[in-house]
Amino acid sequence: MVTQYIYGVPVETFAAVKEVEHGKELPYFSWEKDMTFTCPLGKEDIVYGLGETMRGINKRGARYISFNYDDSRHRDDMPSMYGSHNFIVVDGEKTFGAFFDTPAKVVFDIDSAGDGLLSVACESSDLRLYIVEGGSAYSVVKEFLGIIGRSFLPPLWAFGYGQSRWGYKTARDISRVAAKHREAGIPLDYICLDIDYMDRYIDFTVHKRRFPKMAAYVKMMLEQGLHLVPIVDAGIKVEPGNAVYEEGVEKGCFCKNQDGRDFQAEVWPGMTHFPDFMRETVRAWFGSQYRFYTELGLEGFWNDMNEPAIFSTESRKKNAPPDAERGDPDQPGRHIADYKDFFHRLDDGRRISNYKVHNVYGAMMTKASGEGLEKLLDKRYLLFSRSSYIGAHRYGGIWTGDNESSWRMLRQNVYHMPSLNMCGFLYSGADTGGFGGNTSRELLLRWLAFSVFTPLMRNHSAIGTRKQECYRFRGTEDFQSIISLRYRLLPYLYSEYMKAALRQDMLIRPLAFDYPDDEKARRIEDQLMVGEGIMIAPILEKGVNGRIVYLPEPMTEVRYSGGSFTCMDVGAGERTAMAPLNTVVFYIRRGKLVPVGKAVSNTAEMDLLDVELLGSGTSYEQYVDDGSTKECSLDRCVVRRP
Ligand code: NOJ
Repeated sequence: MVTQYIYGVPVETFAAVKEVEHGKELPYFSWEKDMTFTCPLGKEDIVYGLGETMRGINKRGARYISFNYDDSRHRDDMPSMYGSHNFIVVDGEKTFGAFFDTPAKVVFDIDSAGDGLLSVACESSDLRLYIVEGGSAYSVVKEFLGIIGRSFLPPLWAFGYGQSRWGYKTARDISRVAAKHREAGIPLDYICLDIDYMDRYIDFTVHKRRFPKMAAYVKMMLEQGLHLVPIVDAGIKVEPGNAVYEEGVEKGCFCKNQDGRDFQAEVWPGMTHFPDFMRETVRAWFGSQYRFYTELGLEGFWNDMNEPAIFSTESRKKNAPPDAERGDPDQPGRHIADYKDFFHRLDDGRRISNYKVHNVYGAMMTKASGEGLEKLLDKRYLLFSRSSYIGAHRYGGIWTGDNESSWRMLRQNVYHMPSLNMCGFLYSGADTGGFGGNTSRELLLRWLAFSVFTPLMRNHSAIGTRKQECYRFRGTEDFQSIISLRYRLLPYLYSEYMKAALRQDMLIRPLAFDYPDDEKARRIEDQLMVGEGIMIAPILEKGVNGRIVYLPEPMTEVRYSGGSFTCMDVGAGERTAMAPLNTVVFYIRRGKLVPVGKAVSNTAEMDLLDVELLGSGTSYEQYVDDGSTKECSLDRCVVRRP
């Protein structure tokens, strides 16, 4: 059961899609006029949710701030990341969920002082608060997912392996990456084009010399089974002659500064204007710009810098002292004041600073692009964004931004996945191998072994770091083996993704959701459930050959290496699972089946129905379609039996 409580006049965030009853008296929380909501926690209560935030799956013991920000120092105590996902679930003495639907800053203090108090301080007094009740933490999440609507349905190729790097400059570079993967026998479905494909980083352009004859190039790559996925940044370069800029100015599509002029901020292309995505007409206008790409044959995109990230403004020079020195200890090193400097015009006529609606800016860009692509393409598109807010999960996925090549970040990737799923973001993943810093062969192999199970599986790294395409390392057959596992599991992973999205369920869950009465399982954060049949226990440490795995029930242990599966029934309890670098070990739940397909070099070669079934179950309900139709429904499930 979901009930909503309205305070003031909330700004439309588009987070919820279902009508929800209005409640009279707010349960669980006491409420202060300063918009602080507090609730005592039981000693053993676990608090889930908050999507893209640092630390573990249980969010208890720290403070988190919803205020979207571009900061690549993903330390444990970093209060906010690129997205804001204000949904929490308290699980314990009382079990309920709460979604603070407001586009302004929110501070979640989840018992950081150890005094058993949960407090949520909302900066705006205009908000919608949803209280979700009914049974277990898992059923509370499912209720919530029902309210916020069906997750984005990407095409099958978006579940293939993707290669990316900031620094690929020319069609030649891209072709080399493709050829090297082919030579090494490493499957690949797409290559991302970072900012250098553009003419001076201007959106909706292609650099003529670096990518001559783009349409023909896109077509040729597609014939090889490869999709190109260009980046699109939020800011539109201020430059006479830039058609999108000129049209945007003429139609009044950009955010304004204090005195009503179009606001300017410096990002990659130099000075830019930010589209005022808060208005429907502007979203439609921006979405229609993707025609430039779709006419080139492109069907996949990543939206970046949409917090929005700002290097400098007309009033703040680059490298100016951050706000901390001007008294905002919550957000050290940040230029929060920039966001008070520009304004949106809402559809209801209100003029409002970005600061007050800040957290939905990226989400509104995703909505704009998603709705545009929906109109432009007669098939499903790939879209993932850096910044997000709940609601954007209906239009695209997200990646978790500029992590680094470290074991800590791999572990964070594991923690992020179930938390993001609770907030609707099923299509997500991290920069596999790490974005900043230099990766190692061992780290990349272990990270890939985890990413096999995340819907977005993309190797991405920053310019200036060690190059981390798999073919650059010794023993490429180990990389080949792990990535081929992804493809062999696709009949299962694709089916489980589509079923979870269509049923408004989670794909990746903490063990606690499937084994709520198992005290040990409830506290485990480094093992996850993937779909209805698989449990994973990724290796997250350097220099080890295996790990201890906890099995809440007897399962089938599956080991994959050198292209083959070996299955063994194992009992409940703790066991040591050895997994050398070229081996992935995972588990199939008792009574479940997992369909595995043939090895292929990309999804275009894939026959989802040509499978063998692993595990001890008697039937498996497999979702199957052509991988791109927009007509997706559970009617497409077929029952497979051994
Ligand atoms: C920031 C993004 O997070 C990163 O993935 C990208 O490579 C750079 N911008 C350059 O576009």
